[in-house]
Amino acid sequence: MSGAKYHRLLLPLLLVLIGGVVGQIGVEKKEYYIAFLQNGPVSADSRVQRNINLNVLSSVKGSIVDARKSMVYSYTSFNAFAAHLTKDEAQKLLDRNEVLHVMPNRYHQLQTTKSWDFVGLPLNARRNLKIESDIIVGLLDTGISPHAESFKDDGLGPPPARWKGNCRRYANFSGCNNKLIGAKYFKLDRLENPGDIISPVDVQGHGTHTSSTAVGSLVQNASLYGLAEGTARGAVPSARVAMYKVCWDTFGCSDMDLLAGFEAAINDGVDIISISIGGIFVGYDVDSIAIGSFHAMKKGILTVASAGNSGPSLGTVSNHAPWILTVAASGIDRAFRSDVRLGNGKSVIGIGVNTFSPKKALYPLVRGEDVALDPSTKEDARFCLSGSLNPAKAKGRIISCKLGEWGTDSYLTGIGSAGVILQSNDTWDSNPIFMSPATIVNGTIGQIIDNYINLTRSSSSGVIGKTHEIKLEPSPFIADFSSRGPNSGTKRVLKPDIAAPGVNILAAFTPLKSLTGLKGDTQFSKFSLLSGTSMACPHVAGAAGYVKSFHPNWSPAAIKSALITTATPMSQRVTKHGEFAYGAGQVNPIRATNPGLVYDMGELLYIRFLCHEGYNSSSLAVLFGSKSVNCTKFRRGIGYDDLNYPTIHLSLQAKQQTTTGVFQRVVTNVGAAQSVYNATIRAPKGVEITVNPSSLSFTAVNQTLRYRVVVRAKAMPSLQMVSGSLVWKSSRNIVRSPVVIYSP
Ligand SMILES: *[C@@H]1O[C@H](CO)[C@@H](O)[C@H](O)[C@H]1NC(C)=O
Ligand SMILES: *[C@@H]1O[C@H](CO)[C@@H](O)[C@H](O)[C@H]1NC(C)=O
Ligand SMILES: *[C@@H]1O[C@H](CO)[C@@H](O)[C@H](O)[C@H]1NC(C)=O
Ligand SMILES: *[C@@H]1O[C@H](CO)[C@@H](O)[C@H](O)[C@H]1NC(C)=O
Ligand SMILES: *[C@@H]1O[C@H](CO)[C@@H](O)[C@H](O)[C@H]1NC(C)=O
Ligand SMILES: *[C@@H]1O[C@H](CO)[C@@H](O)[C@H](O)[C@H]1NC(C)=O
Ligand SMILES: *[C@@H]1O[C@H](CO)[C@@H](O)[C@H](O)[C@H]1NC(C)=O
Ligand SMILES: *[C@@H]1O[C@H](CO)[C@@H](O)[C@H](O)[C@H]1NC(C)=O
Ligand SMILES: *[C@@H]1O[C@H](CO)[C@@H](O)[C@H](O)[C@H]1NC(C)=O
Repeated sequence: MSGAKYHRLLLPLLLVLIGGVVGQIGVEKKEYYIAFLQNGPVSADSRVQRNINLNVLSSVKGSIVDARKSMVYSYTSFNAFAAHLTKDEAQKLLDRNEVLHVMPNRYHQLQTTKSWDFVGLPLNARRNLKIESDIIVGLLDTGISPHAESFKDDGLGPPPARWKGNCRRYANFSGCNNKLIGAKYFKLDRLENPGDIISPVDVQGHGTHTSSTAVGSLVQNASLYGLAEGTARGAVPSARVAMYKVCWDTFGCSDMDLLAGFEAAINDGVDIISISIGGIFVGYDVDSIAIGSFHAMKKGILTVASAGNSGPSLGTVSNHAPWILTVAASGIDRAFRSDVRLGNGKSVIGIGVNTFSPKKALYPLVRGEDVALDPSTKEDARFCLSGSLNPAKAKGRIISCKLGEWGTDSYLTGIGSAGVILQSNDTWDSNPIFMSPATIVNGTIGQIIDNYINLTRSSSSGVIGKTHEIKLEPSPFIADFSSRGPNSGTKRVLKPDIAAPGVNILAAFTPLKSLTGLKGDTQFSKFSLLSGTSMACPHVAGAAGYVKSFHPNWSPAAIKSALITTATPMSQRVTKHGEFAYGAGQVNPIRATNPGLVYDMGELLYIRFLCHEGYNSSSLAVLFGSKSVNCTKFRRGIGYDDLNYPTIHLSLQAKQQTTTGVFQRVVTNVGAAQSVYNATIRAPKGVEITVNPSSLSFTAVNQTLRYRVVVRAKAMPSLQMVSGSLVWKSSRNIVRSPVVIYSP
């Protein structure tokens, strides 16, 4: 299975951070549950709310004392609490009238700075500095390194007056400044060992990296040991950052901590939430990221989330909700090579990053099996597995072997060899960082090296060259690891929404972890290269902050629409899964500040959408805080879509010759008062797309006009996807929506 295969690649790069958690994704840990209460006497006073929650909990725990002991969180804005319960107690709670819903606490996975130039946001871009410095981006992540240069507050005044967050001194965390204006951690239960420092400090490097990508101040001459050198910066270098640490080294990010992080970010007053965390689809009413981001949306806060690192299989995208902006990872035009030169003068391509320079022109070159510890380890030695090589024989030589299981093997420690050449047929979009001189070559090149060793025997020699940058073409492309649509949560909504750079991104790193995080690694750097949709997400969160600095009053849906309809289209020839890989295309922050038209929407449209999806008043109460939603009047026919989404997605009906989808849309004029937009349609073969009216004449700013799109598609083979587009063009603006047709 290719999904599993790619986990292997990501593990050492990003997910060393979550260690054993990969095996637990989606697994219910029965010990913790989150209970949502009926509206009842909701109190804005957290102490009153806590007493209400304790009373409910004591009904199954027997006493207030026991209830206190088992309660982990009392949420105020969600009218809910998290507690340590047995399955029976959870069931008893659910049977109570005042309890709406009880969900098990699940665990989630985490998923330069040239990248901003690459997407067209140069250092000298036009800025609204005064408003930009009022923008606050909140990240739910692994914490933050307060001393990173990217979070220096030179030139910044005090936080905006509306800011309610705070930042105290914690273990290994000396406090905040006018750039890093908030830092909190969420891990109140005492039972789980986080393998981490109980403080907002970032031990893993992930949260420091994402924060600096979104909002980092300018840092000149940033590099990883001289690689990727340049000025590191976020999209909005004058904006503020607030960190909500919800992910921990040993167990990842759990629902109850995520909800607490969302609650704090919403109450503190952030403008944008960036969450580079994924999970499997379990329903909008039991997915903590969907629930938290829905409450954020109600308060005018856009949540930007990563699409996941489970590609390139179809249907792997995470963060499915239409009120979330879901981001895929693209590669920029830069990659890192550590080439190999053989004793015969031939040079071959090697992939990866190492910070070492060869000290000699050539070293003796051998195959792993030639330096096996003993005959019984010969097979393992072909893969350089730990314990299989004879250190005395390996010393001072370059060893060629096949790549086995990433993360455990001798090549990571080098075992005193002069270097390791690894043969692998996998796609290495993200270039791994090594802790000893090493490189990765593909199967063809591996064969060339092995043939050379066979021919020259004891006189074979080679050297792994210093890592250098190359220009990649064609680019952008979507990384293989980036999760693909279709959306397993909602057939009617295209996910991912948009793509942003997420391959070999240079950004700030933690001083508390070596570059690889592996035992024995002595490489530390203020900046490091990481890959993942985790790195793509803060690019779009930063871009959303940039748009908001020009349009402080825009709703989350309007900002999201602006980013989606102005994205630079990407090529299906370069990335074969098309829109399922990149959504509307590559983010373009500057164009997004002037989209011309936006598809706006608020709570009501999402309610209608959810009712249409089959949710009912009970299941929706978690999102709305009461059972007051009556879905009956909102139910519509199959194939009818009036969620005012900026993209169009039609799922074909099984066993039908033709499927017809009707899409009702409303656009708001945010460009020039007098503007005329004409529709241009590009329909794929076998699909008929009509739009009515095909011309929209606006006479005022904020004026809204409706149109209707009818998509009629012939039956297609199962799992096939075709796409076209609907583009509204005026003399000044181009407003583009991809139209995707999929046969499940
Ligand atoms: C964290 O702080 C504790 C005590 O304040 C100190 O002993 C420890 O060395 C620090 N850890 C790191 C990784 O800095
Ligand atoms: C940039 O950093 C490198 C090494 O870290 C150093 O050699 C170089 O002098 C620096 N350049 C500038 C302009 O500061
Ligand atoms: C790469 O693929 C070729 C052809 O399938 C195979 O012979 C070779 O052993 C593979 N190499 C590795 C390192 O897996
Ligand atoms: C290995 O890389 C070389 C050089 O880029 C290329 O020509 C060859 O096709 C690649 N082989 C495989 C199996 O990808
Ligand atoms: C190298 O030679 C050995 C025996 O001489 C042979 O078994 C092996 O297949 C050869 N390997 C390559 C890569 O040609
Ligand atoms: C509401 O939906 C839930 C979950 O889908 C289901 O268990 C419940 O029976 C439904 N309630 C009603 C009144 O339809
Ligand atoms: C919901 O709305 C339908 C149709 O408008 C109505 O018949 C029904 O009584 C309502 N249900 C509740 C619980 O209010
Ligand atoms: C348009 O709407 C926005 C936000 O809803 C508001 O801030 C702005 O003043 C309005 N502009 C005009 C010209 O009405
Ligand atoms: C839109 O179409 C009308 C009528 O076909 C035409 O007169 C007008 O120039 C078009 N406007 C744009 C911006 O293409």
